Amino acid sequence: MRRMSTLALRIEAALRDAVTQALGPEHREADLMLRPAQNPRFGDYQANLAMSLGKQLGVSPRELALRIVQALPQEPLFKEVSVAGPGFINLSLTDQALAEEGAAMLADPELHVPKTTAPDVVVIDYSSPNVAKEMHVGHIRSTVIGDAIVRVLERVGHRVLRQNHLGDWGTQFGMLIENLMDRRAAGDPVDLSAACDLNPVYREAKQRFDSEPEFQERARQRVVALQSGDAETRALWRQLVDSTVAYLDVMYRRLGVKLEPGDVCGESHYNSRLQGVVERLQAEGHLQESDGALCVFPRGYKNKEGDPLPMIVRKADGGYLYATTDLAAVLYRSQDLGGTHLLYVVGLPQRTHLEMLFQVVRDFGWVGEGVRLQHVGFGSVLGPDRKMLKTRAGENIRLKDLLDEAEARASAIVRGKNPELSSEQVETIARAVGVGALKYADLSSDRIKDYVFDWERMLAFDGNTAPYLVNAYVRIQSIFRKANVSPEALDGRALLPGDPAERALLLTLTRYGAAVQAVAESLEPHRLCGYLYDVASAFHPFYERCPILRSDVPEQARSSRLVLCALTARVLREGLDLLGIQVVEQM
Ligand code: ARG
Repeated sequence: MRRMSTLALRIEAALRDAVTQALGPEHREADLMLRPAQNPRFGDYQANLAMSLGKQLGVSPRELALRIVQALPQEPLFKEVSVAGPGFINLSLTDQALAEEGAAMLADPELHVPKTTAPDVVVIDYSSPNVAKEMHVGHIRSTVIGDAIVRVLERVGHRVLRQNHLGDWGTQFGMLIENLMDRRAAGDPVDLSAACDLNPVYREAKQRFDSEPEFQERARQRVVALQSGDAETRALWRQLVDSTVAYLDVMYRRLGVKLEPGDVCGESHYNSRLQGVVERLQAEGHLQESDGALCVFPRGYKNKEGDPLPMIVRKADGGYLYATTDLAAVLYRSQDLGGTHLLYVVGLPQRTHLEMLFQVVRDFGWVGEGVRLQHVGFGSVLGPDRKMLKTRAGENIRLKDLLDEAEARASAIVRGKNPELSSEQVETIARAVGVGALKYADLSSDRIKDYVFDWERMLAFDGNTAPYLVNAYVRIQSIFRKANVSPEALDGRALLPGDPAERALLLTLTRYGAAVQAVAESLEPHRLCGYLYDVASAFHPFYERCPILRSDVPEQARSSRLVLCALTARVLREGLDLLGIQVVEQM
């Protein structure tokens, strides 16, 4: 990450100088283990390096910590520095240092978010649903998490190429197309032009495939026709794919994610490359035959019986598989697209598949050292019974129904809170808040874990929820409306954090850049949620304790508090935007 003169970097520089002074230049690069103080009573930041360094040098950590502290330059940065316990260095910042940082952030269009010094070409595979099948909650998670990661990576200066690895190829198209042809022959036109959900089309075809042997046989032949490029078959396939893409576009827009039809690079894209993949594996001597199928054996992978686990790349009937396509996709993304960091935002059930894939392309030298491959996995969405979230009938929940319900619930809440709003206003607000709450619930839990879907909790106005954060933003907007000043008019006004609540809020706000950077590095959006929740939680006591517009508030204090409000609003709005969540101006 690029070094900027943000507060944390100033602290780091001062500390590094002290370490070098006290212990010698060979420790210049030591990990300072600098982090926000666990307990605000002990200061604002703590540096824990003395503990590990002491062990390494055979000196008491406390002694080391004291030496470092003594070497700290006399700076207007630190109000107080102390050594606690076995050797924690506790640092408190001066109000002035915090105030300067806050003002500088407000004046900076980048809000002091550090840019990376090593920009990657990130190729990110996310959303990736399947044609003619409703997106299931797993695809929704992938879409929402992937979108947040895209925004954060772009924000810190990476180049991001989005790849929607649409499931638009494979044997299921035989039955889909054959069924479509039957319907049309029977006089039912089945309109595929409108952006429509093709779930029923899929369901019907599947049911016939399972119950009518004659249909099953025709469907098999239809796959052959599709693969050999039969014109009529291809045309129908195209219509199925196009109408799915149109449908997805409507859904992505409602969800407010940055995926566009042009980002679709589905499985069919790799069709012409699959034979080449198998030939290359063959030529390089990696293929083994097993019951007529061609396989590679990723090093170290075993099945339950302890036998080597194959990755099948061609079936006995000559058909290619999911894994073959993924091999072609790695080559395309690293070589054709020039990707240096390939991300796969895919549910945890596919972990082994992806790890085997990564291992194979590494071991075979298909991607070089300069390319990182990473599975950004996530857990399942559970219902109240802690089983996979399904409808009462046991089916996958449709994204459209989820969005409709989120909006309906939000609209009832907003109408109840603010009866003065017109129904158009309610609708606009409910759309942002409902969808925001849904996305935030997904993003705010550690993605690796399962989470329990709960409408009441995600729409609550307290706790770590979107409505809680948006509400803090709305309160600030209302202050500005009442004060009749625009936040921009505050440029250059001083911050004077006199009250502890003001100081605590300001301190939290100065950590915004670090929070964004942490997400860019960990690819864990819930960290940004946690941070924004801290901001909103620090705002509320400030709002309770520090009057702004009351007539007895001195002008300087009022102006400083308005500056603090402006900075809080900027951080909340931009932070939520990085999560793909919109704020509203009133609620
Ligand atoms: N379409 C797949 C599914 O629904 C997800 C694709 C993930 N990406 C990949 N390159 N395998 O499970």
